[in-house]
Amino acid sequence: MNSDKTAPQLNPTKTIGFFPAVKTVTKSIREYKRPSLLAPFFVAIEVLLECLIPYVMTLLLGAMQYVDTPTMANPNPISVNIIKLIFGSAQPNMLITILYFGLALLLLAFLSLTFGALSGKFCAIASSGFAKNLRKDMYHKIQDFSFSNIDKFSSSSLITRLTTDVTHVEMSYMMIIRTAIRSPFMLVTSMIMAFTINSTMALIFLCTTPILAIGLAIIMSKAIPFFNRIFKRYDKMNESVEENISGMRVVKSYVREDYEKEKFNKASENVKNDFIKAEKIIAFNGPLMNFCVYAGLIAIYVVGSILIINTNQAFLKITELQSFMTYSFQMLMSLMMLSMIMVQIIMSTASIKRIAEVINERPTIVTPENALKHVKNGSIEFKNVNFKYFEKAEKYALKDIDLKIESGQTIGIIGSTGTGKTSLVQLIPRLYDATLGEVFVGGINIKEYDLDTLRNSVAMVLQKNVLFSGTIKDNMRWGNKNATDEEIIEACKLAQADEFIQNFPEKYNHYIEQGGVNVSGGQKQRLCIARALLKKPKILILDDSTSAVDTKTDALIRKSFREYIPETTKIIIAQRIASVQDADKIVILDKGTIVAVGNHEQLLSSNEIYQELYYSQNKAGDNNG
Ligand code: GTP
Ligand code: MG
Repeated sequence: MNSDKTAPQLNPTKTIGFFPAVKTVTKSIREYKRPSLLAPFFVAIEVLLECLIPYVMTLLLGAMQYVDTPTMANPNPISVNIIKLIFGSAQPNMLITILYFGLALLLLAFLSLTFGALSGKFCAIASSGFAKNLRKDMYHKIQDFSFSNIDKFSSSSLITRLTTDVTHVEMSYMMIIRTAIRSPFMLVTSMIMAFTINSTMALIFLCTTPILAIGLAIIMSKAIPFFNRIFKRYDKMNESVEENISGMRVVKSYVREDYEKEKFNKASENVKNDFIKAEKIIAFNGPLMNFCVYAGLIAIYVVGSILIINTNQAFLKITELQSFMTYSFQMLMSLMMLSMIMVQIIMSTASIKRIAEVINERPTIVTPENALKHVKNGSIEFKNVNFKYFEKAEKYALKDIDLKIESGQTIGIIGSTGTGKTSLVQLIPRLYDATLGEVFVGGINIKEYDLDTLRNSVAMVLQKNVLFSGTIKDNMRWGNKNATDEEIIEACKLAQADEFIQNFPEKYNHYIEQGGVNVSGGQKQRLCIARALLKKPKILILDDSTSAVDTKTDALIRKSFREYIPETTKIIIAQRIASVQDADKIVILDKGTIVAVGNHEQLLSSNEIYQELYYSQNKAGDNNG
């Protein structure tokens, strides 16, 4: 079992206060304000009617006694009036009396049910609508997140916040607008009814409530810290699940199942232990409530019986004592519900904060005001660029980068793995912003462009390619949703993909399975290049995108680039010298810095790294070139 000391170390993200968080989150109620108000309104009516029922029962009993023995001492005056109203001067009749009262009771029950159902309906509309808006607001916000925003939360935590946390808030909201109104209202109404019947008797019962309230407050204050912690533990558990399932192939290939199971068990055990601790405290709720209520009931019975006997029902009638019992039970029920709501609300405070954190997060990369909507050409310039992935990172991934690329040039970037090739090109479409220094495209600082404009002019074929489930044509239209069939075929021809597509029985309507598992690695790369070409970009970046393509096809792709898209600036990151040797400029990166720039001949004669690479590759792959 974990000691309490470990709790504060979980999830060290910056937290926001409870009330600001509530303010942020409730903004998402929007169009569901009306049902949010109608639900408690109908609940109030429902409760009012429900509380009238025991009172009408008292009147009925009084009336029956009066009809039975009109000479009785101290009859209920309201019952007597009603009897007079029904029968006038005629002889009262027991059956008709019961019928009238029965009808009234039925009507009350029916109305109460109807209003209950109405409030239930509006409550469901309001809470699920609120939840929908919360998910929408978070999702929209996440779409604007830069990679550094996402890195900050971690994608698994974002998923938990979008699902589990929203569900908790939805539940709480449902309880607040229905039960949280119903219970106190029921409590108060029952109290008032009890006072109407007999105030002295009601006071006796009322005396027990302060004891109950204080007891409840103590219990809750002890349980809150545990519930707060449970949610952080939940987060850990969910993260463990999400990480494991999305990385299942790796887990299996490294035979880490036992370790993962152990990790999950521990997280799950922690949740259980904290729940037990919290529930142990909450469990005092029951005995406390029982004590207060039964103490009150006993007092009422004792005092009531004495009063009835001693005053011969002048001060309190037997029928009134019976109604009293009903109201006492209604009060008991509402108190129980209230404590349950409090538990639910406490449980969702953590979720409210976590949702507000996402909604309040400022995207680190945004379109500026008066943004430029046109990119003149594909020239690129890095001016004294330094970059690290997050503020507190010790190491810069890129250091002192100065590089000028003319529009239409072909640039090769090589360097061993982890030297910052991907990091460098990611700065061009602003997937990340440079930590220091500036990047220019078309002679303008990229921060002045409209983000969509910039990203539409830069097509990047990522190192980790993704195809989506759908036909080849569907996938191609990710590049340009208005692309004609001819344009698609042209792009595929340029990317040397047309040939293998023609071999599929359904050609361009060939269905790609989720994740592109039914095409080979090299085919996938060529499809991704074609998709990027359809964007008709000013800058085309291929990040190790032909690594799975044979050298001959690789050369054909580069040839078609030269011939058909001469104005597009092409940046080719590659491991093979052959992929870059005909480039206008080859950039050699090492440990985040540019160590040399030049064409093939220049580098081959002057740069050691390049020479080494060239000779090692040409020995191994002479016949590939
Ligand atoms: P290869 O693709 O393997 O050839 O390497 P690369 O030259 O493209 O290296 P890359 O630019 O991806 O990485 C440069 C450095 O940044 C490495 O030290 C990485 O560990 C680090 N790095 C890369 N991506 C991330 C990221 O998303 N977050 C953080 N924190 N670091 C990263
Ligand atoms: Mg890379």
